[in-house]
Amino acid sequence: TWTPDSFVETTVAELKAKIGDEKVILGLSGGVDSTVAAVLLHKAIGKHLHCIFVNNGLLRKNEFQSVLDQYEGMGLNVKGVDASARFLDSLEGESDPEKKRKAIGRVFIEVFDDESHLVEDAKWLAQGTIYPDVIESVSATGGPSATIKSHHNVGGLPDYMKLKVVEPLRMLFKDEVRRVGASLGIDKELLGRHPFPGPGLAIRILGDITRENVAILQEVDAIFINGLKEWGLYDKVWQAGAMLLPVNSVGVMGDERTYEKCVALRAVESTDGMTADWVNLPYEFLQKTSNDIINKVRGVNRVVYDISSKPPATIEWE
Ligand code: XMP
Repeated sequence: TWTPDSFVETTVAELKAKIGDEKVILGLSGGVDSTVAAVLLHKAIGKHLHCIFVNNGLLRKNEFQSVLDQYEGMGLNVKGVDASARFLDSLEGESDPEKKRKAIGRVFIEVFDDESHLVEDAKWLAQGTIYPDVIESVSATGGPSATIKSHHNVGGLPDYMKLKVVEPLRMLFKDEVRRVGASLGIDKELLGRHPFPGPGLAIRILGDITRENVAILQEVDAIFINGLKEWGLYDKVWQAGAMLLPVNSVGVMGDERTYEKCVALRAVESTDGMTADWVNLPYEFLQKTSNDIINKVRGVNRVVYDISSKPPATIEWE
């Protein structure tokens, strides 16, 4: 029978035999899958694993530094690459969701390629691909997200890198990956993190992506997510986040009339992201969160809560 411990034992032995003393490159995203894949490989080949963690400037507030610190604390050989400016410049004036994704995918490949060339004589590319990714990328009908939106988690790297691919989690479902992660001693909080899209906040800022808009959304998102944690709601929700809408609305502040931004909060229950139900968060929580956002984030004067389920409303608004 399958157990996380036996999976770790067998896989580590297989990886050792397969890779020997060749070098492996792996892109860390901060998510569960790439982290578990990295720790598994690290156990098998130690310092021959070279991890690259790219900041695309569209991560959650403080996420790049805190996740990088965590990775270093786990003993991983990881290089943090802050390419924020390169990504944000490439998105300037881009408001079309698919073009945003393509621009981000393209820059990611460029940055990753540059970085991988710095690892001399690398032979392998490791990826945190899990079973649902494999299915989604080959299935003709695909999952809704596979066909409607251009995800680039799978096979996203160009052929010219000529690296052999190793995907130790290829046969696992998400819950199995989490159990393997626990068996490897990975921090519970890291294993319980909500999914977060590769293009990050770019697909949660409807309309133009500016540095100012990114900063505003990071603040809003941090208040919402930290609030969920404080209220003990975070683990009851599959995924949550905030969207910055391309709408200004009228408000009053003292005797003044304001005309400021509106954010939408979204929290969903799901098992795989294919279908999702909006979460019935307590009114008291929503009230407190809305007040906090409006009082603390300059430029936002209205907060709405998304009560739409998928289908038809996708989890992300773009
Ligand atoms: P949707 O919005 O299609 O999202 O209901 C389903 C799940 O996929 C994530 N998502 C993405 N992940 N690149 C990613 O890596 C993307 O372009 C992308 N678009 C959506 C979304 O966060 C949710 O978990």
